[in-house]
Amino acid sequence: MVKQNESLNRAKNTKNDEFYTLISDIENELSNYDFEQFKDKKVYCNCDDPTWSNFFKFFTKWGKRMGIKEIHFTNYANTKRIWNKQLTLFESFDLKDSADDDKAGTAHHWIYDPVRDKLTKKKLKGNGDFQSSECLKILQQCDIAVTNPPFSLLTQYLKIIIENDKKFLIIGNENEIASRSWCSYFENNKLWLGYTHPKQFIDINGNIKKLGFVCWFTNLDVTYRSRPMVLHQQDLSQFSKYDNYDAIEIPKTKLIPENYWGNMGVPIFFVEKFCPQQFEIVDSSSAYGKVPEINGCKLYRRIIIRRKRS
Ligand SMILES: C[S@@+](CC[C@H](N)C(=O)[O-])C[C@H]1O[C@@H](n2cnc3c(N)ncnc32)[C@H](O)[C@@H]1O
Repeated sequence: MVKQNESLNRAKNTKNDEFYTLISDIENELSNYDFEQFKDKKVYCNCDDPTWSNFFKFFTKWGKRMGIKEIHFTNYANTKRIWNKQLTLFESFDLKDSADDDKAGTAHHWIYDPVRDKLTKKKLKGNGDFQSSECLKILQQCDIAVTNPPFSLLTQYLKIIIENDKKFLIIGNENEIASRSWCSYFENNKLWLGYTHPKQFIDINGNIKKLGFVCWFTNLDVTYRSRPMVLHQQDLSQFSKYDNYDAIEIPKTKLIPENYWGNMGVPIFFVEKFCPQQFEIVDSSSAYGKVPEINGCKLYRRIIIRRKRS
């Protein structure tokens, strides 16, 4: 697992963004959501070339049943993809009427209409960077962003989506949870985790690559956010008080006591079970700033939470 976490961090630090999502991972995640959330909505996959992205494959199969109005795609002209497999399903679309320019290194805006099963394609002026003004304009006209964005630009990507007040469902590195801006999103209920953890991706050469600590991030409705965790009475003498935070140390999420109402430091992966009706995050600086200490010994990163009285 340590090795897989290292590969993920290496991918981020060396700006290797070419890890492609498996169709099974998209299906596993999306099958958990109430499709009503997608009804009559415009979805935008802003890091996806429909000729090969499995997000295109997923939405052409499910878009109509989900009641989606339109699905937009833009591809990035500078993608350094060696693996050149094209989705066979793509060949069934008649793109004769579309303004075409297929030179390598061009970027396009594609629109799929699930009711008419029709795909149109228009050349972009720029390179399809999700941060470019023409891609931002498409984002502003859409409702939900769904993709696996470049690992090296995940924080910039999320900032843009949240600033534009969009719904999103994206794949990313779970370790981001411990950074300042991500903690503040969690604290302010602007971001939470989806359901599943993709473990395998297709690399630039078309080989399967295992990566650990990958998850889906979203602000769509997920069931666990409205289902309080079942807590048990605990012997409180087993929990020590921190030297540098006003909280007690709870080393495992499952040990959160039913018989305690004060501040508690919990592992950062608590966010996977965070139900905001049951808990509030009172201090996340313990995740990205000073590490909590007990009797001078540093602990792992923690999030300080407190139970809410209903
Ligand atoms: C992690 S890969 C995932 C690709 C695809 N979404 C999928 O799930 O298979 C991220 C993709 O984003 C592309 N990319 C990198 N920088 C980008 C940018 N600034 N704007 C849009 N796409 C970018 C990369 O070339 C890469 O193909």
